[in-house]
Amino acid sequence: MNKAVIGLQWGDEGKGKIVDYLSEEFDLVVRYQGGNNAGHTVIVDGTTYKLNLIPSGIIRGKVCYLGQGVVLDPIHFYNEYGQIIKTIESPKIFLSSNISLILEYHKQLDKINELILKNEKKIGTTSKGIGPAYQDKVGRKSIKLYDLKSKNIIEEKLETIKKFYDPILESFDESKINIDKTIQDLLSFYESVKELIVDNSFIKKEFKNKKILFEGAQGALLDLDHGSYPFVTSSNTVSSNIVIGSAMQVDYKTVGIFKAYATRVGNGPFPSELFDNVGDYIAEKGVEIGTVTKRKRRCGWLDLVSLKYSCEINRVDELCITKADVLNNLSEIKVCKSYNSKKYEEVNFSDSVILESLSLDDNDFESFSSWGEIKDLSNFENLPENLKKFISYIEEYLSIPIKIISLGPERNQTIIR
Ligand code: GDP
Ligand code: IMO
Ligand code: MG
Repeated sequence: MNKAVIGLQWGDEGKGKIVDYLSEEFDLVVRYQGGNNAGHTVIVDGTTYKLNLIPSGIIRGKVCYLGQGVVLDPIHFYNEYGQIIKTIESPKIFLSSNISLILEYHKQLDKINELILKNEKKIGTTSKGIGPAYQDKVGRKSIKLYDLKSKNIIEEKLETIKKFYDPILESFDESKINIDKTIQDLLSFYESVKELIVDNSFIKKEFKNKKILFEGAQGALLDLDHGSYPFVTSSNTVSSNIVIGSAMQVDYKTVGIFKAYATRVGNGPFPSELFDNVGDYIAEKGVEIGTVTKRKRRCGWLDLVSLKYSCEINRVDELCITKADVLNNLSEIKVCKSYNSKKYEEVNFSDSVILESLSLDDNDFESFSSWGEIKDLSNFENLPENLKKFISYIEEYLSIPIKIISLGPERNQTIIR
């Protein structure tokens, strides 16, 4: 059966690690949304791989595919692909010709969008031009990979784009769109990657009856429609976008992945956020620094209320918990089980004003005792009793089994039940 690994929090749940782990038994690994705002870290035998666009299956030499729902920055892809070619033998990557491109002016607009917002209203984007690139896609202005075959088509599209955006760029002292340079850059990019570009029809034929692993980027609470708007990313991160973003009409099982605590990078509501030294401890021990922007990630207790919501909107079949090892030495570990006594059914998770107004108290948390260092990773039964109690509580709360337990960043620090 095909599988999808989907983040259930605000991203950085460890998707890269788990996709790498699971990809052994799949033929093809697919990204279907997002762009190089994603930062997926995989560590294998002491070697660290940081991937933004290319699916983590590449490390095991699996065929990788970027579907039409991805937004692709040619400069970034060229560099990331260049790195991969140096480290992986004969990597096989295909790009959907229907992918929309991120160009320089998208990054300028991303900056402007943030600039005009008041401090507490700033989204805190990754500045990679993601929002403006999706805006152009929805606004039917995108330059697609398939356009790169024709200089005339690129030129014609850029002329419209220039008319539309130059006045804005100019009024914020940003450089205007340089049509000639953009055309040259895009044509030379096309020359270097044209062998990788395929139509959706090719993928359908080529990967018929193959086992597919879908790699989500970001997390359910950053989903454009389901997340805490406007503090979200600009794509649908949830599993129901897989068919659209990959153009593959296939069935799959959804593995929902979450950390044993919560982190958020960027602004927006975070009801179980910690502002004390426990939060600082988790950030330090968990090395909670953004892969893409190097920003410190905000840390808090695991939030089961939003996790239950994420399980529902993703139709999660099984769960994966990561990073419980980060909490090993805390004397008390908490999880959030209600929002001011309210259950998840009573909360509107896409209304950030309501979420921001919450102020949780002791009754909203369940407390667990320390489980100490974990010495034996050979199987679930040998884990410390207190960690098993913590895991059982989460399973019961969510009514979904936790099948994968990750207790360290290395590929082999993983237990399957
Ligand atoms: P992603 O965006 O969901 O792929 O997650 P990131 O790679 O951005 O962040 C997860 C970080 O935690 C990475 O540095 C991983 O190497 C690391 N990591 C993943 N799983 C575990 C785990 O179980 N324990 C610990 N300590 N680190 C982990
Ligand atoms: P992975 O795949 C964590 C956050 C940004 C910001 C918001 C909007 O590594 O889990 P954007 O640049 O997408 O317009 O920013 O979304 N964000 C992420 N946070 N992990 C990510 O990806 C993220 N991708 C975007 O910090 O709050
Ligand atoms: Mg990440």
